[in-house]
Amino acid sequence: MSISVLDPALVQRIAAGEVIDRPASVVRELVDNSVDAGASSISVSVENGGLDSIIVSDDGRGISREDLELTCNPHATSKIKTLDDLFCVRTMGFRGEALYSIASCSRLTISSGGWSKTVDNTVVQPLEQSAVPAAGTTVSVKNLFERIPARRMFLKRPASESAMCRTVLIQKALAFPAVEFRFFIDGQLKLHLPAADATQRFIDCHRGENGFIETDCRTFAETDENFSLFGVGTVSESYRSDRSRIRIFVNCHCIEDFSLVTAVTNGYSEQFPGGRFPFFCLFVTIKPELVDFNIHPAKKECRIRIKSQVQSWVTTMIRTQINRTIRPVSPQAVAVPEPVQPDLTPAEPAGPLKPAFTEAPPRPQRNRGFAVSDFREDPRSFDPLWFEKARTVLDKTRPDTVTKPVKNAPERPYIYLGQAFRLFLIVEKDDKLLFVDQHAAHERILYDRFKADRQIQRLLIPYRFEVEPDTDRFLLESSYIYSDWGIELTRPEEMVWEIDALPLVARDAEEPVARFICENTGDLEEIEKKLFSTMACRSAIKAGDEVDSLTACAILDEVFKMEKPCCPHGRVFVTEITEKTLRQSVGRLD
Ligand SMILES: Nc1ncnc2c1ncn2[C@@H]1O[C@H](COP(=O)(O)OP(=O)(O)OP(=O)(O)O)[C@@H](O)[C@H]1O
Ligand SMILES: [Mg+2]
Repeated sequence: MSISVLDPALVQRIAAGEVIDRPASVVRELVDNSVDAGASSISVSVENGGLDSIIVSDDGRGISREDLELTCNPHATSKIKTLDDLFCVRTMGFRGEALYSIASCSRLTISSGGWSKTVDNTVVQPLEQSAVPAAGTTVSVKNLFERIPARRMFLKRPASESAMCRTVLIQKALAFPAVEFRFFIDGQLKLHLPAADATQRFIDCHRGENGFIETDCRTFAETDENFSLFGVGTVSESYRSDRSRIRIFVNCHCIEDFSLVTAVTNGYSEQFPGGRFPFFCLFVTIKPELVDFNIHPAKKECRIRIKSQVQSWVTTMIRTQINRTIRPVSPQAVAVPEPVQPDLTPAEPAGPLKPAFTEAPPRPQRNRGFAVSDFREDPRSFDPLWFEKARTVLDKTRPDTVTKPVKNAPERPYIYLGQAFRLFLIVEKDDKLLFVDQHAAHERILYDRFKADRQIQRLLIPYRFEVEPDTDRFLLESSYIYSDWGIELTRPEEMVWEIDALPLVARDAEEPVARFICENTGDLEEIEKKLFSTMACRSAIKAGDEVDSLTACAILDEVFKMEKPCCPHGRVFVTEITEKTLRQSVGRLD
């Protein structure tokens, strides 16, 4: 084997492949540049999924003629100058390689200040006078990967590529709510996001999505001397069955960080116990010297020096502040600080990042959560009408068809007393009162049933969905595992799959099942467990549903047959109070 030095154009293309792997990466880089240029309005237009053309225009500060000469050269940047700057980056870009990379695999024209420069697949053309208005900058990228057919082969169909460009735009729009965004596909305006605050932008970006309820949005905030946190998320009935709408932003970069996503879901564990995930944006604004973005070509990852502290603060912030919305407590009982309306980067106009910690409001007193003692201090306990109220509540909890607690069929070893808070089935058994979480219990019963009974139903119209190359490969080898479980899949074309049949118990679940298939590859045993719990969680009786006594007893019969009453996610769903404890609590010591 002989060694030879590669041609510079080839070197350039290899390097570019790291940064630009599909049209959405071009959109990401160009919008970042517009934001860094202080734009207050950005418009993105894609044609044929971005393969024919991507145009990004902004009203930012523009580029002088001299600087235009330098753009698209390797390492040409106005954003950092010294090594020290690299550890204190306040802009989205800093490497001076994005335009250079794009120009190596497309025909790129950048126009600003009455001049434009074109680089056609690495070949630089002389500057020309341009008709584009003097204010702002317009970058047009034509025929992406035309000269790199191998890269084109990995792309999806144009509609999917456009959808990915839209996703990137949404991420940027969430991070920079004060900037107006427009998104065009094949000449048609598909999305217009006027300048807003972070909460309104969150709502505008999710409006119309399955499971999203505008009125269920809440804000969260917390500050420390080194970082500040701001979150917008949904509560109550607004949730999804996957984590895809939990987005993490660190100094305005949308990053992939599973541990911070987990910190969010841990904070939500009381509100959404398993199988349900909020729509959530977490904005972490941290001193630039404590974070390093220079570890991933597309800046999708970062290293935070005080990561574990940030993680635990995120969980605590959500856990404590969300309680206000589940269990309103009178001000005397627990002083819950109002969320600090943050002056955080996301709400800042574009331009060099101005992290909130510099002007952060004083750190709020952290609330202390809701321990048992809080309950005892609750002034409602001393309500003079409590006895009357208690009686009404008790009446309501009785089974609907009978006035007295029923001794159920004689073989039943328990007495069903009724439902409380539309969540607990209350049972008297031996010397205990048992409280059974109706959703978790039903979920477990369905889970067991799914595993035992595999009747299937053929779909009249097969459900078609596209997958990533990785998933495609996985399914080619392992799609049989799904058919074992009653999910029949076929592959009409490359990277396209169809669901032809589903288990009877999961009928109408094509969309979540397809989403599940797209998101889960790897360990087969793990996939099986997750799949069934996902399906069971979907069709189970929910918290909040009214349950009649027949249904309740049907659930309880099954529960009492279980060896361990825990839901498929591992949570124990029965709690109890003994008669003795109850007696003691009212002073009966006999
Ligand atoms: N829309 C724009 N408005 C004003 N200046 C721009 C714009 N786009 C690019 N520039 C200028 O061109 C330079 C090069 O941009 P490029 O995206 O290649 O590198 P960068 O943003 O500095 O770093 P990175 O490679 O990390 O994105 C920028 O530093 C900036 O000075
Ligand atoms: Mg850039």
